[in-house]
Amino acid sequence: MKVVGLGGSLGAPSRSLAALRLALSGAAESGADTQLLDLRELHLPLYVPTDTSVPDGARRLLDAAGSCDAMVWSSPLYQGTVSGAFKNALDWLHLLGDHDPPFLSDRIIGLVATAGGVHGLQAVNTMEFSVRALRAFAIPLVVTVGLSVQAFDDEGNLTDIAVRTSLEDLGREVARIASRFHASDKLESECAKAAKRLAMAAA
Ligand SMILES: Cc1cc2nc3c(=O)[nH]c(=O)nc-3n(C[C@H](O)[C@H](O)[C@H](O)COP(=O)(O)O)c2cc1C
Repeated sequence: MKVVGLGGSLGAPSRSLAALRLALSGAAESGADTQLLDLRELHLPLYVPTDTSVPDGARRLLDAAGSCDAMVWSSPLYQGTVSGAFKNALDWLHLLGDHDPPFLSDRIIGLVATAGGVHGLQAVNTMEFSVRALRAFAIPLVVTVGLSVQAFDDEGNLTDIAVRTSLEDLGREVARIASRFHASDKLESECAKAAKRLAMAAA
């Protein structure tokens, strides 16, 4: 079970990144292998559809997203929606369109947003459109951290214990749902193999 966290802002410290780390720690506690993709470290240029070059950061993003079972996305709320940097990362995922199955098919995704005010849900709702466009599944539980300067201090350390619990619960839930989802995949392939063995034995 591999869970990839994608997000943070280009600022430092980033409260949306701190929130993402906590959600990933919940997934890790549930036995998932986790990988953090910090947007600030990826140095993604703006996605240009007609460019054929794929910079290192974009390659890391595509490899991680293309090989995981589940993801956690975390963006700050910027002007009532996701940040431009976060949306640009999603645009790079367009290059997974040629994969089989395409884009993020069958991935389970947990959604997190941090906001200066109290309406972080707008970013989460925007993300959900992209989850569907990329053919993935968003889990019902989401976490929005409103009044983020009160939840995390200026070094990005958590100051609100209830927020920690919510974020870790989200990570655990992503891992739980993804393992159930992929267990049924395994069961199907085991059944197909058993049916093949029976057919060969009968022949
Ligand atoms: C460009 C910009 C736009 C923002 N727009 C909003 C907004 O529309 N609503 C809101 O509640 N907070 C807004 N904020 C505050 C951020 O959402 C909040 O500080 C968030 O936790 C920042 O996350 P970060 O530390 O990961 O950068 C904005 C901040 C910036 C820099």
